[in-house]
Amino acid sequence: MTIWNPDISQYDLPKYKALATAIDDAIVSGELKAGDKLPTHRRLADTLSVTVGTVTRAYAEAERKQLIESRVGSGTFVKTHSSGSDFELNHPSKDVIDLSFSFALVLNQTEELAEELKALSSDAKLLREILEYQTPGGILRHREAGIKWLEMTGVYSGNTDRIIITNGGQHGFHTATAALCQSGDTVISCGLTYPGFSVVTQQLGLRHIGIEWDNEGILPKALRLACSRFKPRVFYVNTRINNPTCEVMTEQRIDEIAEILREHQIWVIEDDVQGCLQNKSIPTFANRHPDITVYITSTSKALTGGLRIGYILPPPSIDRTIRHALKASCWMAAPMMAEITSRWIEKGLALSIIQTQQKAMKKRQQLVSRYLDQYHYNSAEHSYNVWLKLPESRNAQEFCQSLAAQNVLVKPSTAFAAGNFVPPQAVRFCLGGDTNRSDLEKALEIIKAELQQPGPEIDFCF
Ligand SMILES: Cc1ncc(COP(=O)(O)O)c(C=O)c1O
Repeated sequence: MTIWNPDISQYDLPKYKALATAIDDAIVSGELKAGDKLPTHRRLADTLSVTVGTVTRAYAEAERKQLIESRVGSGTFVKTHSSGSDFELNHPSKDVIDLSFSFALVLNQTEELAEELKALSSDAKLLREILEYQTPGGILRHREAGIKWLEMTGVYSGNTDRIIITNGGQHGFHTATAALCQSGDTVISCGLTYPGFSVVTQQLGLRHIGIEWDNEGILPKALRLACSRFKPRVFYVNTRINNPTCEVMTEQRIDEIAEILREHQIWVIEDDVQGCLQNKSIPTFANRHPDITVYITSTSKALTGGLRIGYILPPPSIDRTIRHALKASCWMAAPMMAEITSRWIEKGLALSIIQTQQKAMKKRQQLVSRYLDQYHYNSAEHSYNVWLKLPESRNAQEFCQSLAAQNVLVKPSTAFAAGNFVPPQAVRFCLGGDTNRSDLEKALEIIKAELQQPGPEIDFCF
């Protein structure tokens, strides 16, 4: 166990916050290293002459910030990865059933790509064309395919002059956020949101405020308060299905939110990357309020993650600003990727893959309800994600660790906390990727059995 004796008197903060800050500082300075075991609550309380409750609160705060983790029966440790680790991809061993990432199902994309490359390789004129630099935004043929993608997935407010091709959805909202915000600005989102957006806010030096929601989406009252208090520049939203919590925003709620945003002159960044599998008739900000919405979509969730093509549909008034930011980041999306994706869209393959994904997800969601219908969870008919609320006795990180020990990977709610938002005890797991049905059933059985466990013993070592 690490001997650690921080000076918390240097912080002008309540004692528990001072101790949590001291942990943060000690990690930054290298005094505490990844994997170090922290003193027990009792020992540190004695060392610092504070109550055990203060240490418990401080450790909970540091855990929420993902600086440390408590392992059942072993103690509290400095986290092995930085706070961004929940957003990092790793390739687990074969025995592990990894439900922690929301990926498109593996269908016949490999064979289709092989066919497409064969066809491409015999068209020298076209190869010449896509080997050239393109205008930022993409060539007309690729933008036409983009408009078709938008319409196929239910967005009708675009035209070929407006649409901009990107290297995927992440690139799309990074570009939009960088275009609209400067370091120190505030952005708002649902309290639990896609971690890829949180990474962008950190990278750009933005303040990220997470706000409350209900089953129709962000709460207008909370939004109004946040707008008056924090003067945000941008509102980031997954309208057609929130990642991770799976709510679908209603038309009425979209309009209420838009009215508040207009009043406060706040742009919407509508990240609809997960929305392409949803019902086309579900309303979006892009269709209802295109003048204040930068719409972001991508083919990654339906087709495959490696074909990194996305589209931005900005309001005309900020078109130049967005194009400028795109030039700054990459000049143009890779034309080869855009060519393959456009061909898949034009020949109807993209639509047939979407429909296959939807059918498969519908069946997998039915499977989930067979196993978990007596528990509290949210999902949508075609969603890759399931948001599982935990019984009161369970902690999200401890629950994930327990599942990981049984070779099932899911993500704790802490991975999705926007800024300092305090997440509820819940986990997200995903039904896509290359998990086959029998592994999914096995994982669901393990998750169900884990939900029936009482949780860790509480340590009463006062
Ligand atoms: C809501 C959301 N936005 C964006 C992305 C990333 O999209 P892309 O892979 O196209 O960059 C994801 C990936 O899971 C996502 O869930």
